[in-house]
Amino acid sequence: MDILTYRVLHQIGIIVLFTGLGAALALARAPKGRGIALAIHGIGLLMVLVAGFGLLAKARAGEWEGWIIAKVGIWLLVACLPAFARKGIVPVALAWVLGFALGGTAVWLAVMKPF
Ligand code: HEM
Repeated sequence: MDILTYRVLHQIGIIVLFTGLGAALALARAPKGRGIALAIHGIGLLMVLVAGFGLLAKARAGEWEGWIIAKVGIWLLVACLPAFARKGIVPVALAWVLGFALGGTAVWLAVMKPF
């Protein structure tokens, strides 16, 4: 696949991921009905990761820079947020703010590449 396809897939994946995250957090305390939200969150995670590695290969010649490692860490935290909110490890209100902050930081890292 060419780089533009990976860019489009990465960005669609981000939209799918954060749509699913929002639904999963809204339903974090609900007794049931979270399955579809978690499925959308999971599909988005997979799209972001696969297209992210595609971009890494095509745009950066597979070279790991600090900001890419940081984005993988952010990806992991975003992956865990619904479970953390569900189990009360992170209060749901804080999980919303963390979702915005982590997503925003990932975008900032991708654009600024500060390290
Ligand atoms: C929540 C997670 C993530 C968000 C919100 C995010 C966001 C973004 C954004 C907005 C861009 C700019 C896209 C463009 O210029 O077309 C980008 C590029 C990129 N992302 Fe991600 N990303 C995330 C996770 C990842 C992960 C896990 C990887 C793993 C390898 C990754 C690797 C890359 C690479 C290599 C680029 C290309 C940057 C360039 O060469 O200009 N991203 N990301």
